[in-house]
Amino acid sequence: MPSGAHDGEARPKPRLLPAAPPELTQGRLKRLGEGLGKVVYASEHWVVKRERSPSEIVALIVLWKMLRKLERLLPGRWGKRLVARPARQIRVLRLLTQAAMAVVPKSVWYTTHVREAWRLYHRRNVRGEALARIHLAGTSLVPERVSFPPTRVRISGWPGWLIVSEATERVETTLYQRLVELARAGRYDEVERWLERLLELRQAGWRRGLFSMDAHLKNFGVIGDRIVLLDTGGLTNRWREIEGRLAYEDVVAQPHVQLGLAPILAKRPDIARRFDARWKSIVNLEMVRRYWPASSGTEQATA
Ligand SMILES: Nc1ncnc2c1ncn2[C@@H]1O[C@H](COP(=O)(O)OP(=O)(O)O)[C@@H](O)[C@H]1O
Ligand SMILES: [Mg+2]
Repeated sequence: MPSGAHDGEARPKPRLLPAAPPELTQGRLKRLGEGLGKVVYASEHWVVKRERSPSEIVALIVLWKMLRKLERLLPGRWGKRLVARPARQIRVLRLLTQAAMAVVPKSVWYTTHVREAWRLYHRRNVRGEALARIHLAGTSLVPERVSFPPTRVRISGWPGWLIVSEATERVETTLYQRLVELARAGRYDEVERWLERLLELRQAGWRRGLFSMDAHLKNFGVIGDRIVLLDTGGLTNRWREIEGRLAYEDVVAQPHVQLGLAPILAKRPDIARRFDARWKSIVNLEMVRRYWPASSGTEQATA
């Protein structure tokens, strides 16, 4: 079973199973979440991921650019609501964009910026995945992964089925969702505890010579009382990238706003202030350098 028994750091590789977990093939898997590059489907204890095609990803990038422009043009709340649209509406808009892309010449869509955004996503994804396999597989920092011979599973929605040879332990919920629920229930002590755990997890990553460039709340999941990294996509060990990111952190005045915590902490400005101060005291160049392993096999953390 996916939970328990792997809090140690011993297990090196995804467990190889002779066959897919039966629950993956017993019913139709439901759509659980999605990001720019992947759509995630779940059975009770496992998730499988479908990689989006390049044209799907480009359509999403184009769509986000358009939405962001619209947000600026439309009066306040309207624009905000559009960008915060639920997944289903985004999906419809993405399909429309993709249909338009099919008839209008590619050069119109593949502007330098879009091309660059796609490359960046792709590059980070491949590298992050490789780093996670080497440094994180089998630790308590990521959900468990298993692999098995290629297996056909049924999924809700298009294309109706999928061939997979790997599954990931399903988390209880994303960190974002957990924080939303706790705040709604007024359980702010726990909100604060989870935020502290997020900072601890990041430090545990730095100690292994890994830094996440994409550390937002939906890329983390909750299992029992620990946080795990769901999306290995933004992981890097390159010091130049890390410095760039931390230089940006340096000018962010309110990290909680940037993390999307503003609505969650709206009633508790005191927690927001404490969190901002905590974040600033930890997520900075000096601290990351202090945690960084001396021999990380890559560029050294020296100035
Ligand atoms: N193991 C998991 N359990 C539950 N939900 C997950 C799991 N892995 C991913 N998800 C959900 O799917 C979303 C997209 O997955 P992710 O790996 O972040 O893809 P992308 O690279 O497209 O961002 C996540 O933000 C999360 O909400
Ligand atoms: Mg993601």
